[in-house]
Amino acid sequence: MLRTNTCNELTKEHNGKNVILSGWVKSRRDHGGIIFIDLRDRYGITQINFDPKISQKAWKEADKVRNEWVIQVKGRVRLRPDDMINLKLKTGEIEVACSEIKIFSKAKTPPFEISEEKLKNVHEEIRLKYRYLDLRRRKMLNNLLLRNKVTKYIRDYFYRKDFIDIETPSLIKNTPEGSREYLVPSRIYQGHFYVLPQSPQQLKQLLMVGGVDKYFQIARCFRDEDLRGDRQPEFTQFEIEMSFAEQEDIIQEMENCFIEVTEKVSSDKKILKKPFPRMTWQEAMTFYGSDKPDIRYDLKIKPITEMVKGCGFAVFSKAVEAGGVVHALRVPKGSVFTRKEIDNFTNLAIKNGAKGLAYIVVKEKKDGIYQLQSPIVKFLGEELSQKIIKEVGAESGDIIFFGADDFRTVCDALGVVRKASAEKLKIIPENILAYLWVVNFPLFEESKSTGEISAVHHLFTRPLDEDIEKMEKDPLNVRSHAFDLVLNGVEVGGGSMRIHEKELQEKIFQILKISQEDAQRRFGHMLKAFEYGVPPHGGIAMGLDRFVMLLAGEPNIREVIAFPKDGRARDLMLNTPSEVDDKLLKELGLKIDLED
Ligand code: AMO
Ligand code: AMP
Repeated sequence: MLRTNTCNELTKEHNGKNVILSGWVKSRRDHGGIIFIDLRDRYGITQINFDPKISQKAWKEADKVRNEWVIQVKGRVRLRPDDMINLKLKTGEIEVACSEIKIFSKAKTPPFEISEEKLKNVHEEIRLKYRYLDLRRRKMLNNLLLRNKVTKYIRDYFYRKDFIDIETPSLIKNTPEGSREYLVPSRIYQGHFYVLPQSPQQLKQLLMVGGVDKYFQIARCFRDEDLRGDRQPEFTQFEIEMSFAEQEDIIQEMENCFIEVTEKVSSDKKILKKPFPRMTWQEAMTFYGSDKPDIRYDLKIKPITEMVKGCGFAVFSKAVEAGGVVHALRVPKGSVFTRKEIDNFTNLAIKNGAKGLAYIVVKEKKDGIYQLQSPIVKFLGEELSQKIIKEVGAESGDIIFFGADDFRTVCDALGVVRKASAEKLKIIPENILAYLWVVNFPLFEESKSTGEISAVHHLFTRPLDEDIEKMEKDPLNVRSHAFDLVLNGVEVGGGSMRIHEKELQEKIFQILKISQEDAQRRFGHMLKAFEYGVPPHGGIAMGLDRFVMLLAGEPNIREVIAFPKDGRARDLMLNTPSEVDDKLLKELGLKIDLED
């Protein structure tokens, strides 16, 4: 027997018991002839006492032992003296007096100490390179345990609701959904490729054609895109597809799942509002400057376009004349921002496409009117300035930021300034989970540089029935049955109702200038299936990594993935991507021709 107990089990009740424990040496201390070892396993820590009076041999062996060696100890549980009790540990009232020690394996001095306190100074590259050491830390293990619980409860929920868990293939056909795909060369058909799925989107729709009715999967997805803290080249979705269901059915099903799972795993965090609030994309962009608003804090943007039409400040009046908008963001108590901080906000706005960031600081009242400090009041005039103050509800001590440009530019710029202001003022509450549905996304968008029209989501997304007639003449104002679930300002999931009519699908291809041949080549399998009886259907996919990241309060998804890629898509532990043997390339009919 390699152990009778784990390192987190023994307490006062076991006093006098003979036990065997196995684990890693967390630390070793020599206290005047007696050696103490903290032994660690997945479950916890137990103090082992090596006293030469109990076993000279074990004591001598223990003297050689170093951190992270794997050992087994046999001994008797006994109570610690009062002054050595550690109530922070479950096993803190006992120790094991060792009579026999066995060394399973030795360890080199690890490149970093396995300790939460010392971790701040360890570069993430080192942690990723030695991930198996990093995983020995309590925090990492807790994240994996949390993830494990979350997937269990998600499965419980969907099994109970009669969804069928079906695996879909990872080697599929190249049918872009938005981001670049990973290619897999075929050996048997040289010059031909599989691709790894960006999501099981088309396959789950084909399962609906196959009569499955309610599908569910925890699926691995692959996207070769620019990485950020909440993006990985491979990530996990939990996702559903439902037949004979409407948008409301899908939203309800996922919302109930999220409430159940959140409440089961997250006792220290509270859901802000149930049922989850809903907002149209237009409202989210206008009032929060983002399609994934963080509603944990109550800063709201207000359109003032009508008010400033033809005003004396050319930046505003010209934007309105050109068909654009002017929006104002009131930040209560924002007058504390320094000149330098305002410059930083301005640069942030400019980085997000704006041409500048006008502002008014609201000072104390004199003779019933607010004193204002601002580079633009002299152009706006006193009367209009006071009117604006009133319109946005500003008071002494506030700052108001303005954006003037086309709708998207203004929204994006004020959205980032809103977030940065909240962070600076530290008004974002912790331990709150603010869920929110954003619905009615636009179906199409226009590229700023080329003017080309493309689909916002994948090509099977259904337009709102009442907007279908606008599709040809006014495509940019067609709303869709696409919806996102947002949590604390992060998009955790997205779904849509799908097109089930071949004619409507073909019309979308036409508007996007996808030729019939092209559509056949890329989506022929879908179009063919659509000829054999398709139920109305829709579905949604949630980012499991992002969800667990937010529940764990981690700053990026790498912390909740056992073996993640780094910020440049490398696995530093496996040292990949890597070169392969020429023989392998030859078998695949591939030649490497690198550009300098
Ligand atoms: P979408 O592309 O919105 O929808 O993806 C769904 C959710 O997956 C997560 N996600 C990611 N997580 C980590 N790293 C990434 N690179 C990454 N990309 C996406 C996000 C996102 O909200 N087929 C559709 C779903 C559907 O319509 O059913 C789809 O994949 O949390
Ligand atoms: P200017 O007249 O260009 O010096 O701009 C006066 C103020 O308006 C400055 O604070 C600019 O940052 C700001 N500003 C300039 N263009 C815009 C714009 N498109 N939207 C909002 N503010 C702007």
